[in-house]
Amino acid sequence: MDRKDFIKFTASVDADKIIFYEDIWGSQAHALMLAKQKIISDAELGAILKGLEKAKSEFKSGKFVLDESLEDVHMNVEALVTKGAKDAGQRLHTARSRNDQVLVDTKMHLRGEILKTIEGAITLQKVLVGIANANLDTIMPGFTHTQHAQPISLAFWAEAYVSAIGRDIERLQDCYKRVNTNPLGACAMSGTSFPTDRKLTTELLGFDSVHENALDVVSSRDFVIESLSCLSILQSTLSRMAEELVLWSSWEFGFVELDDSYCSGSSIMPQKKNSDLAELVRGKTGHVYGALMNILTVNKGLVLGYNRDFQEDKLPLWFAFSVVESSLDVMAKMLKSAKFKEKQLAEAAMEGFSGATALANYLVSEKNMPFRSAYDKVKVAVEGLITAGAMVDDYNAITKALKKEGVEMSVVEIEKVMSPRGILESQKSMGGTAPSEAKRMSLELTKLISREEILLKLINKRIEDAKSQTEKAVAGVLKTGKLTI
Ligand code: ARG
Repeated sequence: MDRKDFIKFTASVDADKIIFYEDIWGSQAHALMLAKQKIISDAELGAILKGLEKAKSEFKSGKFVLDESLEDVHMNVEALVTKGAKDAGQRLHTARSRNDQVLVDTKMHLRGEILKTIEGAITLQKVLVGIANANLDTIMPGFTHTQHAQPISLAFWAEAYVSAIGRDIERLQDCYKRVNTNPLGACAMSGTSFPTDRKLTTELLGFDSVHENALDVVSSRDFVIESLSCLSILQSTLSRMAEELVLWSSWEFGFVELDDSYCSGSSIMPQKKNSDLAELVRGKTGHVYGALMNILTVNKGLVLGYNRDFQEDKLPLWFAFSVVESSLDVMAKMLKSAKFKEKQLAEAAMEGFSGATALANYLVSEKNMPFRSAYDKVKVAVEGLITAGAMVDDYNAITKALKKEGVEMSVVEIEKVMSPRGILESQKSMGGTAPSEAKRMSLELTKLISREEILLKLINKRIEDAKSQTEKAVAGVLKTGKLTI
């Protein structure tokens, strides 16, 4: 085969640009460890670190363009270091393989993406809690089967999503633990004969532990699958919320007015205001699920050991993160600027006899009726009322219809039981929609959010500390020629 065609098919330099800085950090830590273990000398370490600094600054300024004929970022960086440091540069790859190196880079970049995603999800949770706190008494219809079911509050709706996103965050936090383990030192597949110190690189790179079994290390991409699973579930939460906003902003619902900046018009129909951004959050979900299917398929038939197929994992992985992170941002901003229409929400809650359950419950608790017979009587009465075109506040008609079923209730009694506000107030069971319960849940969710924020800060700090520990050691060597760790 023509060498040019071979390179075109196999090179990964474009995808690798994303992990360039992680590749430098990984190489710094590896070289520091080699010197600490006396596998290379301090002078060789100094020459390597100088080369890595050069690679970093030239990449930043655009001078260092990754050469496709060198296949990937790892070979490019090594070549640049070797050009300046000759013999020392050639020692950088001692006790390391690209098989563990690419995992180091990917995992370090991935952990940053997970943390950014968690941060975006927390921002969205905060917007939703804000909506909840402002709308504890805002009545709206709750749906089952997309049919009016029971009145709820807008706060209760917003809190449902805060709670779901909380689980999405928890999944990412848990996945992070399995992502943030150190592959470096596994080498090609079976470890090495050099006296490496894998705990030292773990510390310098901010990993939480050593991923030990070298064969498992180089064979593993389940952390990519798991990350994409978490993203798929999170994106499905966003997609469902987006679908509700699309429906609710339609003329038929009229529950919410999205800010103009999140909508577009039609090129032919001058009156149109389309909720394009919500539609695209829903539409982009396919990319995230697609990325998950992609890596599951890549992984399925591979025997243990590194297989070049793995190279295909990165583009879909980063693309999925960019879709989810931008969707989180759009949803948070769109919801923050949305105007919920209280009047329309309250009016809609009056439709569809959604007080029927409350009425049946009242017959049980106040008229000592067994639930099933109360249910049957209310069902017959309500069916008649709906056929006759009566509304939920047609209290006289309701009184009469119930009387026909042998149930005696006054108009005042009916009004008390059937008014959406009365119903809302009555749903006080734990996790119910009553304003008192919605308030309590909002306080709990606020506590959950601050716990999420504290954990995020701690993890970010752990990474920053490791980074400055590495940078300090590098600066020490470059300044004094001596290794200080
Ligand atoms: N570019 C490769 C990847 O992304 C790096 C590892 C290559 N290893 C090898 N033995 N060819 O997976």
